[in-house]
This record gives sequence, structure tokens and C-alpha cells, in this order.
Amino acid sequence: MAADILAIETSCDETAAAVIRDGRQILSSVIYSQIDLHTEYGGVVPEIASRKHIEKLNPVIRKALRDAGKTLGEVDAVAVTCGPGLVGPLLVGVAEAKAIAFAAGKPLIGVHHIEGHIAANYLEPGTLEPPYIGLIVSGGHTHLVIVEDYTSFRILGRTVDDAAGEVFDKVARAVGLGYPGGPKIDAAAKEGDPDAIDFPKAVVHGEEYSFSFSGLKSCVLNYLHHAEQTGETVRREDLAASFQKAVVDVLCSHMIRACREYGFRTAALAGGVASNSALRAEMEKRCGEEGISLHIPPKILCTDNAAMIGAAAYHSYLAGDFASLSLNAYPRMALGERPPRE
Ligand code: KG4
Ligand code: ZN
Repeated sequence: MAADILAIETSCDETAAAVIRDGRQILSSVIYSQIDLHTEYGGVVPEIASRKHIEKLNPVIRKALRDAGKTLGEVDAVAVTCGPGLVGPLLVGVAEAKAIAFAAGKPLIGVHHIEGHIAANYLEPGTLEPPYIGLIVSGGHTHLVIVEDYTSFRILGRTVDDAAGEVFDKVARAVGLGYPGGPKIDAAAKEGDPDAIDFPKAVVHGEEYSFSFSGLKSCVLNYLHHAEQTGETVRREDLAASFQKAVVDVLCSHMIRACREYGFRTAALAGGVASNSALRAEMEKRCGEEGISLHIPPKILCTDNAAMIGAAAYHSYLAGDFASLSLNAYPRMALGERPPRE
């Protein structure tokens, strides 16, 4: 019997709902992006995001059900991102999911946002199955993990300071490209020379799987200040391409090293930064050379969406791992952590 899960995602600035069958098939996926609202502030304003989620979530859910050809009574469970993320935006989704689950008499599933990003790789046409090495690079997280099973993870390394997406956003702001930084740097870098400026590697000495991006960010800022003081002109495209290369290099080399050391021939990328074109191309090239089968979700499933939440929720559904109506928002949930049952 097929299991159709209605999934809700509101952890940051995308209001999203989807209906997912058996953790793999997208019956519908609706994303209302608030990016334009936050652009003038140079980043996500949590209060504005929460208010917009309240306004948009019902229409987004109704559209997801309509697109899937389902009524609420016909879905088998309601899943929602309960953490980590911005507390106000998370609360909107959690309250909505609890209300729907209670009213329709459906089981409720609390989903970890990062597990959602990983699960985007299981959606069709994805054929990925654990175990494998996973690299999750988003606006709030940079994790290199062994995905032992659908719901169990061993963390090999993470960032000790800024997340990969965060540093894209900060550098973009410093060079005047604006918000959201990742896609803007990605586009500018296409016109630039990645070897124009030699930025340092974003590594942590003595911790082979950790990442540190704040030193790289400071180098970019110092480079800009120095150029300003000496009256040198900096080609924004060259700076974007050189910075991007430094980030891509460390992400690829850590991933390949982990595959070699732990003997994996399968790897997967996930998270908003996985939509970066240079990262996708370089990772594909380097994994190809190593004989590693690389999985990357389509770009629209790399950034925040609810389809990935429905894909992750399926494994809790199979295990009967349901949340009670006391489910809360958990802004700082560790990877692998489950929401309390009561
Ligand atoms: O996964 P995501 O949508 O939200 C979080 O869970 O954080 O990731 C958003 C992050 C932002 O920092 C954004 O700048 C970055 O992903 N991003 C990119 C690209 N598209 C989005 N970074 C680099 N290149 C891109 N094309
Ligand atoms: Zn995300």
C-alpha cells in the first residue's frame, strides 16, 4: 500500500508544501519563495518571514493537495520541519501541521531539516541508497557525514565557524553583489578567472574533516580594503571566481578523502550550496576520476523545499516514529537528534 505524506517546510524564507509517495515520488511540490521581500534588508528578517509564512502557508498547502489530486482525508501522515532553523518561522509550520494532523486524524512526523536536505537525493529520479558519504552545504550548516542508514548518521567533520552558504552570502554583500549571495557569486564567477587571486584553503590544521570559512572571508575582505586603499580596481567577477574556487576545492577534497579513507564508492551532495554550478561540475569531475558514483539533487531540490521533508519523513513513517501534539520548534537540533515524543 502506497504511503502519501503531506509535508510542510517553513524553517527559513521558503513557504513550501508537497505530497510525496513512498519517500521517492513527488506527487506535488509547491514553493513560495520570500527572497524578494528580504533582499532590501540584505538577509532574512525572521519576523517578516514568520508573518509571510502565516499568510502563505494555507494557500500553498491547498495547492500542493490540489496538484497531487488528493484531499486531506486521503493522505497517510502529516510531516513538518521542526528544527533546526529560525524559531518563529519553524513555529508557524509546526502549529499548522499539528492543527491539520489533529483535525484530519493523521499521524504527525517531526523532521530534521538537514535530514530533509539529505533525503532530497532519494526523490525520483534518484536511485541512492545508504550507506554513502554525504556532504551537506547550506546557509546554516556544513557537515561531512557517513550516512549509515536512512536515519542514522556519523559526523566526520563540520564547520568550526561560518557555514558554506553563509560565507557566500557575506562575501557577496562585501563585494556589492547583494542578497542572496550564493546565486549571485555563482553567476558573476562564470565571467571571472578562478586563478586571478590565490585565496587560502578553508581547512582546520590537525582536523582533516573540519572546515573553517571565516579566515577565507577575512582574506577576501582584507583584499578588498587593500585594493581600496591603494586605488587598485578589483574585477568583481575575478574575485567571485577565485573565492568560489577556494570553497569548492576544500569541499571536494574533504569529500574525496572521506570516500577513500572509509572505502565508499558512493557519495551525495545536498543543501542550497549544492546548486552551485562550479561545485557540481568539479565534484562530478573529481568523483569521476576516482570512480565514485556521485548523487546531486536537481537544483530546485537543493534549496529549501517540502518534497525533501516528505522524503525524509517516510522512514519515520515506516518505523512508526510519530510525534505527539506537543511537538515544538527546535531551533538548534543536532543532526540525528529526534524531537521528544511527549
Ligand atoms: O539549504 P538552503 O536553501 O537553506 C538553508 O537551509 O540554509 O541554503 C541556502 C544557502 C544560502 O546561503 C545561499 O546563498 C546558498 O544556499 N546558495 C548558493 C547557491 N544557491 C543557493 N550558494 C552558492 N551557489 C549557489 N548557486
Ligand atoms: Zn535548508
